[in-house]
Amino acid sequence: MSFTRRLVMAGSALLLGIASATAQAFPNKPITMIVPFAAGGPTDIIARIVGEHMSRTLGQTTVIENVAGAGGTTGITRAAKATPDGYTIAMGHMGTHGAAAGLYPNLGYDPQKDFEPIGLAAGTPIVIVARKDFPANNLQEFMKYVQANQKTLNAAHAGVGSVSHITCVLLHSMLKVDVNEIPYRGTGPAINDLVAGKVDYVCDQIVSVSEQVKGGTIRAYGIATPARSPSLPDVPTTIEGGLPEFQVSAWNAVFAPKGTPPDVLAKLRDALVKAVTDPGTRKKLEDLGGVVPDARGASPEALAELVRSENTRWVALLKERVKQ
Ligand code: MLT
Repeated sequence: MSFTRRLVMAGSALLLGIASATAQAFPNKPITMIVPFAAGGPTDIIARIVGEHMSRTLGQTTVIENVAGAGGTTGITRAAKATPDGYTIAMGHMGTHGAAAGLYPNLGYDPQKDFEPIGLAAGTPIVIVARKDFPANNLQEFMKYVQANQKTLNAAHAGVGSVSHITCVLLHSMLKVDVNEIPYRGTGPAINDLVAGKVDYVCDQIVSVSEQVKGGTIRAYGIATPARSPSLPDVPTTIEGGLPEFQVSAWNAVFAPKGTPPDVLAKLRDALVKAVTDPGTRKKLEDLGGVVPDARGASPEALAELVRSENTRWVALLKERVKQ
């Protein structure tokens, strides 16, 4: 064997050795989980609860990085372009991986092609919440008031394409109203302004409003699911309240950039499944109204299928409902 050939073989063996040592060592430093909204909103809350348990399994801290802007698409674009080594992952949701493609013609990522699905973290029913002195005693009165006062009301949301935006777009199209919409960098700051009475109402995911509703700092007019939530048993469903067509639940899920090595993905997926099946983590999410998947529901296959179907559904729905 020539000297050159021996040198090439030795080099290849060395590279293979390094690659496998890297995979074996994963993770050997903190993992960044990008949350594409401000702190205090549903995406952030779910990421912190799930991320904390994933850190325990992985033996490394999962650091939450809030990268807000453009309805969550700024942070998710950053995640899509991150080095695919497992050290940058993201908490995406029904907006970033479903609806955004229908609202941003130049979206910086393809929700179906630019990610490796890790798994679903939680489902989150939508609740219509308003400032505590909103002049309506129930959903019927809320709808009538919005219809009669649409020019003077402000509905807050987390940016174009966010869950709070697209779900209020649906609500407004059902009520046939044109209400002023105020974008925030997340529903955390939007709910702060709702508590302060600076905006009138929000269509938010239950996990970031249930404590405020229970505390009486905001009021809830309806939960958009067929059954009431055990977390807010006194809040009627939109079916009970007289708006049965308003049925919508969001979802939040973990993604890695496309090309993340399979053995690294396997460790991240194992950590996510351990998190969502852990009784303590489940309880924290369920107490807030989250609907937590089982191991099968949190599988990458289930998430890939969810992204495919939600992407198709929302792009079609928004085409029909949003003024172009
Ligand atoms: C939304 O899409 O409305 C969000 O989930 C906002 C957030 O997490 O702050």
